[in-house]
Amino acid sequence: MTTPSTLPQYVDELRRQFPALSRTNHDKPVAFFDGPAGTQVPRSVITAISDYLTKHNANCGAPFATSRETDGILDEARSAMADMLGAPDPDEIAFGPNMTTLTLALSRALGRTWQPGDEIIVSRLDHDANVTPWVLAACDAGATVRYIEVRPDDCTLDLDSFEAALSDRTRLVAVGYASNAVGTINPVAHVISRARSVGALTSIDAVHYAPHGLIDVAALGCDFLVCSAYKFFGPHIGIMWGRRELLESIRPYKLRPSPDDLPGRWMTGTQSHECIAGALAAVDYIADIGRRLQPAAAGRRDQLSAAFQEIVDHEQSLAQQLIAGLGQFDALRIWGITDTNRLHERVPTVSVTHARLKPREIASRLADQGVFTWAGNHYALPLTETLRLEPEGTLRIGMVHYNTADEVDRLLTALADIV
Ligand SMILES: Cc1ncc(COP(=O)(O)O)c(C=O)c1O
Repeated sequence: MTTPSTLPQYVDELRRQFPALSRTNHDKPVAFFDGPAGTQVPRSVITAISDYLTKHNANCGAPFATSRETDGILDEARSAMADMLGAPDPDEIAFGPNMTTLTLALSRALGRTWQPGDEIIVSRLDHDANVTPWVLAACDAGATVRYIEVRPDDCTLDLDSFEAALSDRTRLVAVGYASNAVGTINPVAHVISRARSVGALTSIDAVHYAPHGLIDVAALGCDFLVCSAYKFFGPHIGIMWGRRELLESIRPYKLRPSPDDLPGRWMTGTQSHECIAGALAAVDYIADIGRRLQPAAAGRRDQLSAAFQEIVDHEQSLAQQLIAGLGQFDALRIWGITDTNRLHERVPTVSVTHARLKPREIASRLADQGVFTWAGNHYALPLTETLRLEPEGTLRIGMVHYNTADEVDRLLTALADIV
């Protein structure tokens, strides 16, 4: 069961900060249920990006004002991301084009420390960006890939298969924090501690979890964690956190003149400074929710923590409403956790299939009603293959804190006409 949240009373005020949320489509208001593919952005983020380009635009490291200001904005953004991820040291934060590119770079660098006989473990619940980069690196090194299987009944990780795969040959375990296809929150703390017990490194894909819950890399004890700001109300940019001693000791693929200290050695080429400014504003936007709703929270990390308490309560209540509503349609099957006593084990990302209609057809008929959902495999290809849902995949309905109970009602009414 869910705890009442105070956030719904403020949601209209929060929504007014997002220009896109007042958009119409064929004279109908748009209900955005496509957050898992990218969230909308508040005005403060748009302003931060345009302010950067208007006032501070420069490359890093030069002795003139705009360059110094750029260096300062990058430092501030790293501090904000360290607060967001619970990282002890802002120098452990590296920015890059997106999570996929950062993971390909990290996997290539780590892979050159592997050899035949070494093993890595990935999961069949993950987005492919946390699978194929590791598989390719293992293949180059002659290392073996093992899989954590998925339980089809509730789309959770099969931890017995994890135990069977884990051994003193395991060099790396890569697992997602939450599934972008079916919403499952994985028991990452447990997976990390089991991996550490055999001396393996861990890399966590927190892209899907980041807008839904507070991340604490120090408490988790992982070695690397990646996420993307465009999934938590920021612009299109990726973020990687790594443990200092590893980021310093592992050799990245980098250019000779580029810095060899942290974080520069992991940030190849010139970055999107305007998007880094936008990521900083996105973290501050979330912290501001905490500041308003729990004024006792002092400091950005505590404000983020307060914000996510409110966000979790609100999102669980939306998930409960949506799952109960979807359960009324006999021809729909919900993939993933549906038990209302287990809502804390999922984020409000819900995938369904229909007995006859293809996901894409339902998504496009919903779009005609101004209800934006997603259809396909969501790049969680190992999962849709395991569930035998290829090639059509699922209809994915994804919610974030700016979604409302009225929007869920609209979606269910529109679905009733279609299915
Ligand atoms: C869970 C998950 N991991 C990784 C990615 C890839 O992120 P990016 O687009 O930043 O490469 C996505 C994108 O949808 C995702 O949802």
